[in-house]
Amino acid sequence: MSRSAEPDGSATSRPAGPDESALSRSAGPDESALSRSAGSDQSALSRSAGSDGSAAWLLDRVRALARGGGRVLIGIAGCPGAGKSTLAGWLAGALTDAGLPAVWVPMDGYHLADVELERLGRRGRKGAVDTFDGHGYLALLRRLRAETGDVVYAPSFDREIEQPIAGAIPVPPRARVVVSEGNYLLLPGEPWRRVKEAMTEVWYADLDDRIRLERLTTRHVRFGKTPDEAVRWVAEVDEPNAAAIRATRDAADLLVDFDRLGIS
Ligand SMILES: Nc1ncnc2c1ncn2[C@@H]1O[C@H](COP(=O)(O)OP(=O)(O)OP(=O)(O)O)[C@@H](O)[C@H]1O
Ligand SMILES: [Mg+2]
Repeated sequence: MSRSAEPDGSATSRPAGPDESALSRSAGPDESALSRSAGSDQSALSRSAGSDGSAAWLLDRVRALARGGGRVLIGIAGCPGAGKSTLAGWLAGALTDAGLPAVWVPMDGYHLADVELERLGRRGRKGAVDTFDGHGYLALLRRLRAETGDVVYAPSFDREIEQPIAGAIPVPPRARVVVSEGNYLLLPGEPWRRVKEAMTEVWYADLDDRIRLERLTTRHVRFGKTPDEAVRWVAEVDEPNAAAIRATRDAADLLVDFDRLGIS
């Protein structure tokens, strides 16, 4: 098992190779999480019963889903900067540490490459829904669900170069849980409707907008934008996307109050 840093600097780890188990833990729960229920009755668990608002409860929820046999796919949706990647890295690590091997597979690996965005004239809107290969992501999720006898390789997204990297994340046969996350997991149109269907559950990460925008802007600066460019990018690119994402919140199987989890 190896420990490494995600390109954006949040500590997590990835398996060093196909033979190794999934992620190791990046940060421990402080038992102060809040998860709450809402919405449909599709989930295998009640979305309200038994919720005590703790990170430990989230882990128990996934463990219960895994008892049904088969590989569990948990999706985490939410606005840009809401903490999806941080939560996914923590969850995969904590599950692995608890004896349920889990791998974090970001939807961001399905960003179109710059060469294609240039061709489409969409490079200046990277992050909008049409700048992802949504059908490719759906095909990966279906493979992850069905192809449990082979290593399935997923792409990562490198924030330093802002490009997807093919074959970067091995999901070994013994991975019992895949935690995936991205902006558009709950969108109503295609292929996103089928993306939700391919998941066992999709959660929505909530975070106060003021904190979210502050963290998002800081991260853009950390990865090379000037403060002015960062503010402009958030206003012109990220926030129009956020409006569409926020509208999908009610479709989630579970709402997670990210900041009360106490992970970073
Ligand atoms: N508890 C915390 N305190 C302070 N900063 C945090 C905390 N958790 C996460 N962050 C930072 O907030 C930023 C956004 O978090 P993260 O990358 O997990 O969000 P995201 O929803 O995946 O964003 P995106 O949609 O852009 O991929 C990151 O720079 C991360 O390091
Ligand atoms: Mg992210």
